[in-house]
Amino acid sequence: MTVRAGGHAASADPALPLTQARALVVEPYVHPDWAAIEQARVFRQSWQLVGSAAEIAGPGDHLAREIAGVPVLVVRQPNGSVQAFHNVCRHRAGPLAACDGKGARALRCRYHGWLYGLDGRLKVAAEMDDAEGFTAAELALEPVRVGVWQGFVFVCLGADAPPLEEILDGIEARMAPTQLAPMAHRRHWRDEIACNWKVYIDNYLEGYHLPFVHPDLARVVSYAEYNSTLAPWYSLQYAPVSGAGDAYGAGEALYYFVYPNFMLNIMPGRLQVNVVTPLGPDRCAVDFDFYYLDQDDVQARVEADLTFTAQIQQEDVAICLQVQKALASGVYRPGRLSPRREAGVWHFQNLLRRAYGWA
Ligand code: FES
Ligand SMILES: [Fe+2]
Repeated sequence: MTVRAGGHAASADPALPLTQARALVVEPYVHPDWAAIEQARVFRQSWQLVGSAAEIAGPGDHLAREIAGVPVLVVRQPNGSVQAFHNVCRHRAGPLAACDGKGARALRCRYHGWLYGLDGRLKVAAEMDDAEGFTAAELALEPVRVGVWQGFVFVCLGADAPPLEEILDGIEARMAPTQLAPMAHRRHWRDEIACNWKVYIDNYLEGYHLPFVHPDLARVVSYAEYNSTLAPWYSLQYAPVSGAGDAYGAGEALYYFVYPNFMLNIMPGRLQVNVVTPLGPDRCAVDFDFYYLDQDDVQARVEADLTFTAQIQQEDVAICLQVQKALASGVYRPGRLSPRREAGVWHFQNLLRRAYGWA
């Protein structure tokens, strides 16, 4: 059977029960058409993490971002609320802001100077008096859905995705008493990796590879007690950690993956956030942001954590590159999944199947 996803013919790959499941078919990992399909069906239809609320603490502070090719502007309002708009002028598509900024009183288009309020309404459009029927007050920047959760700002370009609170429902209760908002941002890095974005996420979603790919990590994260649970829009992997010294502390590690592309890696007093962004069929970027509670030994902890995390990342990247090559070689047929160890992979791939129109 053949189905059409966004105009490209691909084999149907229906969702099966976990105990009967196979890995996703190969086309979405290698076909050049798939990026456009996923921009439209995955990234423009889901909540995307765009920054932390602390970056836009004051009125007029703003973030300029691009989500699946769409320029988006997130603006702190004078009343403290957060609004988001297309960063696209209603005149001839000029940008309102070229980059992040602080304390704007209004939003002035950088092309011909039309002036919008922080709430997106057009206030002044010079030399338009002779334009018949033109009323500035009737125009406004196109609004975008926006939400703030635990100090993080998300936007969603699509109307059909459930509300942000529904997507993340259950995370706060499970991670309590940990709160993310009080943790301070300490470090950022970005890796560009020569693999499809889903190869990186598939790999993240299982601890099955721990003993083979990460021997050092396997010594501090209990493989025997490593487990996962599934929610409608996210999955959680969790395990006790001990013996990692400064890097991780001791306690429980919670690894949340929220569909389609971000991860919250929570240890006591520490949060590390990943956002995975496709850059083409065989290239993606992974952003790492590290947040910590401000404790006495925080600097030593940051350094130890960064070193250890970089090592784990190197090990993951090496295996992802090999997998991408093998997928692209044309010889691989999707294999069976381990119901005990790969429920998260199955869950993610089923959400993708649904987005592609296969389930
Ligand atoms: S495009 Fe914005 S003022 Fe012309
Ligand atoms: Fe890994």
